[in-house]
Amino acid sequence: MDTKTNPNSADKASTVNTYYATTPIFYVNAEPHIGHAYTTTLVDVVTRFHRLKGDDTFFLTGTDEHGERIYQVAMSKGQTPQEYTDEIAGKFRAIWDSLDIRYDEFIRTTEARHKEVVRHILQRVYDRGDIIFGEYGGLYCTGCERYYTEKELVGGRCPQHDIKLEYRSEENYFFRMEKYRTWLRETIEDNPDFIRPERYRNEVLAMLREPIGDLSISRPRERVPWGIPLPWDDKHVTYVWFDALINYYSALESRGLTERYWPHVNHFIGKDIVKPHGVFWPTMLKAAGLPIYQHLNVHGYWLTDSGKMSKSKGNVIKPLELKDKYGNDAFRYYLLRDMSFGLDANFSEVGLAERNNSDLANDLGNLLNRTLGMLGKYRQGIVPAAAELTSTDLELKAAFNTLPQEIVRLFDNLQFDRAIEKVLEAVRKANKYIADTQPWVLAKDEQQASRLNTVLYNCIEALRCASIMLEPIIPQKAQELRLQLGLGNRNYTLADAAQWGLTPAETQTQSGEPLFPRVDLAALQQAIEVGEEALKHKAEVSIDDFAKLEFRVAEVTKAQTHPKADKLLVLTVKVGPEKRTIVSGIKQWYQPEEMVGKKLVIVANLKPVKLRGILSEGMILAAEDKDGNLSVTTLDRDLASGSEVR
Ligand code: ME8
Ligand code: MG
Repeated sequence: MDTKTNPNSADKASTVNTYYATTPIFYVNAEPHIGHAYTTTLVDVVTRFHRLKGDDTFFLTGTDEHGERIYQVAMSKGQTPQEYTDEIAGKFRAIWDSLDIRYDEFIRTTEARHKEVVRHILQRVYDRGDIIFGEYGGLYCTGCERYYTEKELVGGRCPQHDIKLEYRSEENYFFRMEKYRTWLRETIEDNPDFIRPERYRNEVLAMLREPIGDLSISRPRERVPWGIPLPWDDKHVTYVWFDALINYYSALESRGLTERYWPHVNHFIGKDIVKPHGVFWPTMLKAAGLPIYQHLNVHGYWLTDSGKMSKSKGNVIKPLELKDKYGNDAFRYYLLRDMSFGLDANFSEVGLAERNNSDLANDLGNLLNRTLGMLGKYRQGIVPAAAELTSTDLELKAAFNTLPQEIVRLFDNLQFDRAIEKVLEAVRKANKYIADTQPWVLAKDEQQASRLNTVLYNCIEALRCASIMLEPIIPQKAQELRLQLGLGNRNYTLADAAQWGLTPAETQTQSGEPLFPRVDLAALQQAIEVGEEALKHKAEVSIDDFAKLEFRVAEVTKAQTHPKADKLLVLTVKVGPEKRTIVSGIKQWYQPEEMVGKKLVIVANLKPVKLRGILSEGMILAAEDKDGNLSVTTLDRDLASGSEVR
């Protein structure tokens, strides 16, 4: 890591490290789940750790708000894209606040300050001749917002979304990415820790062994109206990835912090977006004449029993529910402790509860309770002064005081789970120290008063040091712990965990509630089983529920495209004597002309909703296969419109 001299301490020879860390900017097409919470919590922990170490630290997160998919979701909700993105970006911020995420900056790609930097960089790359105009055709996934090559497909389908992809061709601007392939390959070969862990470095190197082609970086504005217009041709908007990646730079640039932090940038991402970050982004930076990032750090997936979490599978786990149930710090601890960086991990609520019970309630919580209990009983809750340390004491002291250095090394190597385990090992040693020194025996012998003082003092010190090292992971509980030790008003740095004896004698402790209440595992298991059972029954509806819906035959008398939305048709239908308007997202599948005269089945008693300004009074029933092909439901005998369907 680079170092620079701290201007504030010119007389000392001290140095300050600089650290800049980013999360992906998340798509606002859905609310955050534990996958998003993991990356964001991880970066929160890492940046808190660097601050604790005294580093000049900056933490960026934000939201990715342009592109076709966001546009479609907004439309389907009858909102303008800006209304919709404002709402979800607000939700992201609120959730991060309640999860104690202390970012320094939150960037949204729809902000003027971001768009300005994107247009500037585009113009620069264009002026250098690295953006050219051409025609492109290929298999496109709107879910991923990118084209796939045949080789990347799995059984002819999108590897992320498992859908059949549509062939698409259009005129686009292209970034001459292929031109930078050899340079990038050599850069990665020369810098073994540029992309980490190694498996992802190898993945990118494998991509670079064969031509990567040029990158289509624009979309016709006519089709995708939601994006940043190209500065030299406003009939095209910027491809969402070219726009989004620049956030890491624009956030600094807009605050005048580029020089200070850009050279130290560490990106943290999940393994789903290795290609844009490992291939697009460094070549884009190179073409723009900007220095490339320092590290790309790639983590694996949190999986559930039913595979990768996704909205469409309905197996999304909500972070706030876990926080409410177990407390935020237990949740954070579990996320960091139970995933090895780079590998997938299985998320299980029982696992979280077990971690809470074993590490936090048993090991750490007990050490605090026993220590404060004995201190209350033998010394009126007042911290005594220690006498000379014996070899047993020195062993305990060493176990803690050598840790900060080791943890710095483990954090630098992305081994967060190991770092936590190291601290817990020391905590367990402190519990063993109590068992070995037997303070309750010492307390019976007046001759041993000084020895008892020393033992109690060492327990307090073990707790103080542990609380400092665990603070980035469990910030609230670490504070609560120190409040109970009577050290609530002190701020410690990591270096203070390498020193024994910083708790002043005579400190008045204040024992309080258990830090981490134990979870009743048997009850949890049972609740989970009951919940699963209930879920099975949810799929069945009673005949009374069904009777609430009114289905009728409707005859289409007129069909037009929606003036404000290119995926919607506006149908005028006859339902018996009644005339109604229905707005439906079938434009991709039906021409307006072919709809006229069709007799369809509609849900006739839905509450009317406005879809992009037009009131829709009902819903057409349509069938959709797993490839996304769609067919409206028609009758195979000619019955009168208005007929009831049961
Ligand atoms: O890809 N386990 O946004 P996104 C662990 N907007 N992490 C997970 C996860 C899981 N199951 N699911 C998601 C985008 N994540 C783009 C990024 S950056 C310039 C643009 C996390 O909302 C993980 O960090 O799809 C992953 O990379 C990210 O969410 C994808 O978020
Ligand atoms: Mg995604």
